[in-house]
Amino acid sequence: MNTAPRPLLDRFGRVHTDLRVSLTDRCNLRCTYCMPPEGLDWLPRAEVLGDDEVVRLVRIAVERLGITSVRLTGGEPMLRRGLPDLVGRITALGPEVSLTTNGIGLARTALALREAGLHRVNVSLDTLRPERYAAITRRDRIADVFAGLAAARAAGLAPVKVNAVPVRGVNDDEIVPLAEFAAAHGYRMRFIESMPLDAQGSWNRATMVTADEILAVLGERFDLVPVGRHGNAPAEEWRIAGTDTVVGVIASVTRPFCGGCDRVRLTADGQLRNCLFATEESDLRALLRGGADDDRIEAAWKAAIAGKGPGHAIGSADFVRPERPMSAIGG
Ligand code: 5AD
Ligand code: SF4
Repeated sequence: MNTAPRPLLDRFGRVHTDLRVSLTDRCNLRCTYCMPPEGLDWLPRAEVLGDDEVVRLVRIAVERLGITSVRLTGGEPMLRRGLPDLVGRITALGPEVSLTTNGIGLARTALALREAGLHRVNVSLDTLRPERYAAITRRDRIADVFAGLAAARAAGLAPVKVNAVPVRGVNDDEIVPLAEFAAAHGYRMRFIESMPLDAQGSWNRATMVTADEILAVLGERFDLVPVGRHGNAPAEEWRIAGTDTVVGVIASVTRPFCGGCDRVRLTADGQLRNCLFATEESDLRALLRGGADDDRIEAAWKAAIAGKGPGHAIGSADFVRPERPMSAIGG
């Protein structure tokens, strides 16, 4: 059998090399722009892929489909039991592996993750103020996040990126302080436009802070030198002149980067999504559990990519919200 990588090519000529794997839809925070205070109806445990199932799909993706980078997401992926072991099994397959986390528990786990071969982490932090953090996330845990960030850096996970979603009237006055915090600690700062992916459906364009606004605020305080975009990465980056600090903006709404998209997503319950905003999924779990061989799974995966649309239409009348919220898709 020929197992040389065959690229995941779609109708628009986009080659998919980046796989995002959600390891759980659960979370230990309740960020207001993500989910309601009571949480969501979590996936039943039996529906969530086990480690062997995740590893098998990642192996097929890497060996047969040309995937070269794997990002582990959630919900909160560190809630997954035995995460360092799973990370070790995935890194052994060869891709670059990164983790998107809210940072809670990272202080305890960062070294084990690094030893398991994890390359990088992105840690979500929307504010530097403890009371405000508690209001946004509905949990009083900011100290854990600061400790987690420091532990990630000490463990040699590099670069450590800090993700913030500015929301008007909530934390939009902290764009400069967050960038200064990142600069002082050697982290990379990334600001993300808020997207209509909250479980409550309360997203509102008026409270989204746009990339132009973020850059205007940063530009008043810092001398910004454009770094551009790394390949198909969603972040556009600038370096603060005279420093090594890089700040990035992910303008999913106002400057969509669908044309260069190289991502495919696997939900915790084994559904392949060819787009964050897809309204259809491919059920790889049913194939896995129905005894499908690798050829069959490879073919289903390619078919899912072949059916990928050109991009999202947030803001247009045609835009249809995906049924799953962000926390159940993976960021
Ligand atoms: N829009 C933009 N970013 C979001 N995140 C969570 N929900 C949204 C949303 N509706 C961010 C988190 C985290 C990353 C995984 O996605 O803050 O940094
Ligand atoms: Fe949890 Fe992330 Fe949603 Fe916050 S944004 S509640 S950290 S999944």
